[in-house]
Amino acid sequence: MTKPFPNDPFLTGFMAPSGIECDAPDLVIEGELPKDLIGTYYRNGPDPLHPPREGDTYHWFDGDGMIQCFHFENDRISWRNRWVRSEKLMAEMEAGERLFGVFGNPMMNDPRANELKYNTANTNIVQHGGKMLALMEGALPTEIKHRTLETVGELDYGGQIDGPVTAHPKFDVHTGEMIFFGYSAKGPGSNAIRYNVADKDGNLTKNLFIEAPYSAMVHDFFVTETHVIFPIFPLTTDLERAFKGEPMLAWEPDKGTHFGVLPRDGSEADIRWFNCEAKFMFHMMNAWTDGTKLHADVTGSNATQFAPKLDGTMADVEEGVAPTFRRWSVDLSDNTNSIQEELFDDMACEFPRTNDDYSTRPYRHGYAVGTVGKKLENFDTLIHYDTQTGGRKTFNLGEGRMVGEPVFAAREGSKGEDDGYVIMLAYDQPTDKSELMIFDAKEIDQGPVATAKLPLRIPAGFHGNWVPLAA
Ligand SMILES: [Fe+2]
Repeated sequence: MTKPFPNDPFLTGFMAPSGIECDAPDLVIEGELPKDLIGTYYRNGPDPLHPPREGDTYHWFDGDGMIQCFHFENDRISWRNRWVRSEKLMAEMEAGERLFGVFGNPMMNDPRANELKYNTANTNIVQHGGKMLALMEGALPTEIKHRTLETVGELDYGGQIDGPVTAHPKFDVHTGEMIFFGYSAKGPGSNAIRYNVADKDGNLTKNLFIEAPYSAMVHDFFVTETHVIFPIFPLTTDLERAFKGEPMLAWEPDKGTHFGVLPRDGSEADIRWFNCEAKFMFHMMNAWTDGTKLHADVTGSNATQFAPKLDGTMADVEEGVAPTFRRWSVDLSDNTNSIQEELFDDMACEFPRTNDDYSTRPYRHGYAVGTVGKKLENFDTLIHYDTQTGGRKTFNLGEGRMVGEPVFAAREGSKGEDDGYVIMLAYDQPTDKSELMIFDAKEIDQGPVATAKLPLRIPAGFHGNWVPLAA
């Protein structure tokens, strides 16, 4: 029997668990659904089936992965959602209760969980090598079947990888490669980063380890046409600290920021480190090579409140915890090995995305969600940045409405970087229901051209991708 969920901010309101898998064959649509938008929008996010174990805490990042699948075809949108059938969730379904401690904390496990893997697969869903992969940064990818969302199982590339894989791999459409990494790659708290490349057919072609200056949480990274960059921010992980009952994760700004720069086809010995004062980011927009320079556009900050400092206090808002749109650059001809920063905007923003056909290459158009007044919760505004003009267009959804990651989807026969649509899930608090909004990417400030009305709320989630029907 599943017991009631505790009254936790991560388990109520927009984040409350859905408790349901469903199929909606034909959603009600306001406006005009574009006829040249044919394919499937997949999105992943945490949706715990069972409450935490008694005496345990909960965190948003811990919930069981739930895939949302919106299929656009024949002038209609259908919606299906399914949990990823992880080893964890299957055992817990069998038991009728949660067996794992939050984040797989073994101190809180039921003994029945001890031989099982903690892989919630709850952060992103991508397509590569003909497979849909549900990702979370602490474990292997989980293969999911297109459209049916049936779980196939973990993908270990023929036994060549057994450790964590980032939820933010990069795709080079020119080579068909998926470039990815894993941090804490030699065990929790280790400073090893594993660098991998899979070719267009999904075969592993690169598998090597790099040693970072210290062990840190590394949520995202940068890939250009020529280089891969592992950004190490001082959000440190320390297993010994955890064993002493102190936080596993801590914000240690004195350790500074370090970018490990490696030619994409390089080996362990080719890594070169660039440095600057403490910075932080969860997500990047895009990265590219410009002569001897490597640039990365990010939603970055100077500090984070994601974990406490060593003295137990949180970084102050005045220390610059709000992520804003900015550029970090290194110059391979610069023997000072310094990281440069250029600030673009002071609006707090997150979930940056581009037209993925321009990933790893120079680009112009970026999309993100933001919030007026630098509140870090409740993003309520869609943003379009024009990096060529420095201009910004916005669409504010208004009071009581919240938005998720915007995803670019090219129109059929698309003729340019911004020739397509931006798809975004929104939540309407007064009705406690969700909506799927479709914007013309060229004029997001005009509001959605079509809005699919959902019969219920989809809990706040993380990342997704558009898969054209022909792909
Ligand atoms: Fe992420």
